[in-house]
Amino acid sequence: MDDRLIQGRLSTALQACTDGAWERRFPWGDAGFARRFVRVTDEDAQWWGPPEPDVSRILDIWSHWGRNAGGDNPPSVLDLACGAGRHAIALAWTGCDVIGVDVGGPAIDRAVEKANRRLGGEIGFVEADIETYDPGRKFDLIQLLSGQCSDFPATELAVLIRRYLDFLTGGGLLVLELPGQLPDPEMSYRKPGEHASLFSDGPCWEMRSTEVDSAARLTCDRYAVLTEAEDRVTVYTNWRLFYPADWIAQMLPSTAAMRVDHRRSRPDWCVISNSPGNQKQSAEGVGR
Ligand SMILES: C[S@@+](CC[C@H](N)C(=O)[O-])C[C@H]1O[C@@H](n2cnc3c(N)ncnc32)[C@H](O)[C@@H]1O
Repeated sequence: MDDRLIQGRLSTALQACTDGAWERRFPWGDAGFARRFVRVTDEDAQWWGPPEPDVSRILDIWSHWGRNAGGDNPPSVLDLACGAGRHAIALAWTGCDVIGVDVGGPAIDRAVEKANRRLGGEIGFVEADIETYDPGRKFDLIQLLSGQCSDFPATELAVLIRRYLDFLTGGGLLVLELPGQLPDPEMSYRKPGEHASLFSDGPCWEMRSTEVDSAARLTCDRYAVLTEAEDRVTVYTNWRLFYPADWIAQMLPSTAAMRVDHRRSRPDWCVISNSPGNQKQSAEGVGR
């Protein structure tokens, strides 16, 4: 197919797309999308890198601010939107008792496969939507990492935060990773084979446009994908809200307290406690 013709079809589809914010989020529950997402983001892939910096950071945070009813025992951890389990498995290696939850069946299958192969410790994975999941027990640490909170509109994120604060042990901590900077607006075109595509198993051409509303901190990535086999263009829209820490603070119930853990060249983490009096130290001392 002629490149200019393909680009013309893709940019026409992008221009015609009128999805409002969060009308069509990434289809995390779609089996094909979820399988391809695991393939391109699993721990051996370049997208995410190794989990260790995050895992040592979370254990540092726990030892500074958490209060463990079990004395010096490692914290119990609930890893929300755990993907293929890279953090959950690394935490279980350190002795934590961990449950990972993800809506993507292929991600959970991969996590279970890796955990079976490499661990003998306490770990479990659940395929569920974190917006409705009920773990039926409490955890010392609950984490939503990889900037995933930016995929939820503010009202949903506020509900999610309140929901999981209720699943914390007394003195437990909820950790939310805030994605860093707003990206730059851009337009890019990819030919078959140029990257591992999320959108099709077969050859496809893809044009992505990123629009940024700096005032609202809202980013919209639109992907127009032409699949060779079907000769059809589909547009995927992914909205993300880049929450500053003070926006997160405004979502908290009055009984919770939040500190921000900054670390050079790593994303900020909001560390939220449901029993503020128990936090041992100021946030400024940790993770720098
Ligand atoms: C960017 S990946 C991060 C995976 C993992 N935390 C990591 O760092 O490797 C996002 C994950 O969030 C999951 N996800 C998105 N929305 C979800 C929801 N509502 N409930 C559960 N999982 C969800 C996706 O299936 C995907 O595996």
